[in-house]
Amino acid sequence: MKKIIVLTSGGDAPGMNAAIRAVVRSAHYYGIQSFGSQLGFQGLVDKNLIPLQPESVANCIQHGGTILKAERCLPFYEKSTRDECRKFLKQMEIDGIVVIGGNGSFRGGALLEQEGGPPAIGIPGTIDNDIPGTDYTIGFDTARNTALDAIDRIRDTASSHNRHFLVEVMGRTSGFLAVDVGIAGGAEVIIIPEFETPITAIAQKLTSPKRPKSSSIIVVAEADHPGWSMQLGKELSELTKLNFRVCILGHTQRGGTPTLIDRKIASQMGFMAVTALRDGISSKMVAMNRDQMTLEPFPDVDAPARTVIDRNLLELNEVLCL
Ligand code: F6P
Repeated sequence: MKKIIVLTSGGDAPGMNAAIRAVVRSAHYYGIQSFGSQLGFQGLVDKNLIPLQPESVANCIQHGGTILKAERCLPFYEKSTRDECRKFLKQMEIDGIVVIGGNGSFRGGALLEQEGGPPAIGIPGTIDNDIPGTDYTIGFDTARNTALDAIDRIRDTASSHNRHFLVEVMGRTSGFLAVDVGIAGGAEVIIIPEFETPITAIAQKLTSPKRPKSSSIIVVAEADHPGWSMQLGKELSELTKLNFRVCILGHTQRGGTPTLIDRKIASQMGFMAVTALRDGISSKMVAMNRDQMTLEPFPDVDAPARTVIDRNLLELNEVLCL
């Protein structure tokens, strides 16, 4: 193994830079030259590969975003585009690809390999933590801490004004972010796509004469319709006659300084990805399950996203919140 490519694809996540750094430096350790593909698979389409030396990734571990930039590359879904890319990779004598991203991005790497391209290994990166086959995805810890910090701030003003807030966090199909920040932020209600929360039950809870508090925070996962908490806030205001405010945290959760956990896991995953390629392993995703790094098959592209299946945390929240 002489040359590998590393790319970040799909939505960015804090900690991706730490993973890139680990890939480049681990490759160097094994005497492998790495190249960065700019803007995910688009860099292959554009034949835009940048040689990366150990010093190219200096001072990036502490930064959010991705120094390689990330994109959802639609042309790459076309076989003819992938054929062109494969020819280019052959000319460049590329022996392996490390794809940092989500399920769709892994599919790109897997297809390229199946069609005769270089072996591919995936590193899971998304703030949603929803990739099947791994308990953890890079960026999740930073995002939940960013959201928690926002909730703490909102709690101050909510309590000063006896106000009720809906705080919308990301999470397209899964409520992992919402559940964790809801519990840690003492949310009165957590609404996630996996389980139904009737609006009447929320209204009842907040307006109960037995309730000792006059403010509240409801954490809402954006689910498939970002911004829907505005409508929910309106409906709740009408139903309860309470004073509701809505705060959509949106892309603030995608940026910022990665936490220690994200940097550490990304570093471990980057090293494992390169070691796997060097050992002749491919079409696998580096995963973290029960605190152990493992290699798992690429998730099936049609597999549903990993979801919160454990109701216990929601029940715990019911017990703890007034
Ligand atoms: O997949 C991560 C995620 O942050 C989702 O929670 C969100 O719905 C989506 O990306 C938004 O991404 P973009 O604005 O880049 O399309």
